[in-house]
Amino acid sequence: MNPLMTDFQTPAQRTPVIVALDFANEKDTLAFVRTLDPALCQIKIGKELFTATGRSLAESLINQGFKLFLDLKYHDIPNTVAQACKVAADMGVWMVDLHASGGRRMMEAAAEAVANSAAKPLLIGVTVLTSMEQSELADIGIQSPIEEQVLRLAKLAQSSGLDGVVCSALEAAPLRRELGGEFVLVTPGIRLDTAGNNDDQRRIMTPAEALAAGSTYLVMGRPVTQAADPIAVLREVNRVANS
Ligand code: C5P
Repeated sequence: MNPLMTDFQTPAQRTPVIVALDFANEKDTLAFVRTLDPALCQIKIGKELFTATGRSLAESLINQGFKLFLDLKYHDIPNTVAQACKVAADMGVWMVDLHASGGRRMMEAAAEAVANSAAKPLLIGVTVLTSMEQSELADIGIQSPIEEQVLRLAKLAQSSGLDGVVCSALEAAPLRRELGGEFVLVTPGIRLDTAGNNDDQRRIMTPAEALAAGSTYLVMGRPVTQAADPIAVLREVNRVANS
């Protein structure tokens, strides 16, 4: 059993995959979701699909029994982010994310806003976008090495009351060491076979490698959405996670 099991998942329920629903419209999304089983995965809606479909699709997926990660990466003044997180909590969203670079007051306000929700969503911080290069950090006035900046923002997220961060699976091991066993690490860039087709991802890990490095949840898009048998992929990752 993975020693990094968190309170959020009991041994019987260890289903680490969050399927990224990177579809452009409701029809394609619902056609794909019909092939999934909420007992085997969580799902994620991002900016494109949410902007296209709004709250109704999100609520319909929650009503179908799926745990929903609303990946809208909030970044605004504390009151605005806190109110947005509260609306997400009231909708029954399971996980929501916000930029840790929005600062301590913004994150504390968000944590306080959802603290008394009937089902408190997991609040997840975005540290440094994995698309950013060192030179782009310098452009916005950040001279620290990327890894240092990621760790600084992850520690700030933790001490501001967030439940975890999104990070590259390659950053998971040092973050796990620094932040302890309970902090949620959500990692994209997962491929079933690292020698195969990586699509546009550059730095990738297999599910087994990412879990061993300390990932709590694995965000997987195309390896599931474009699989001939998505359920078989989910069952295989769950088998690995529980072995
Ligand atoms: O298809 P694939 O597995 O590459 O999809 C990964 C998902 O995770 C996409 O929704 C992508 O936007 C998201 N993501 C990512 N890298 C990050 C943050 C989010 O790939 N650093």
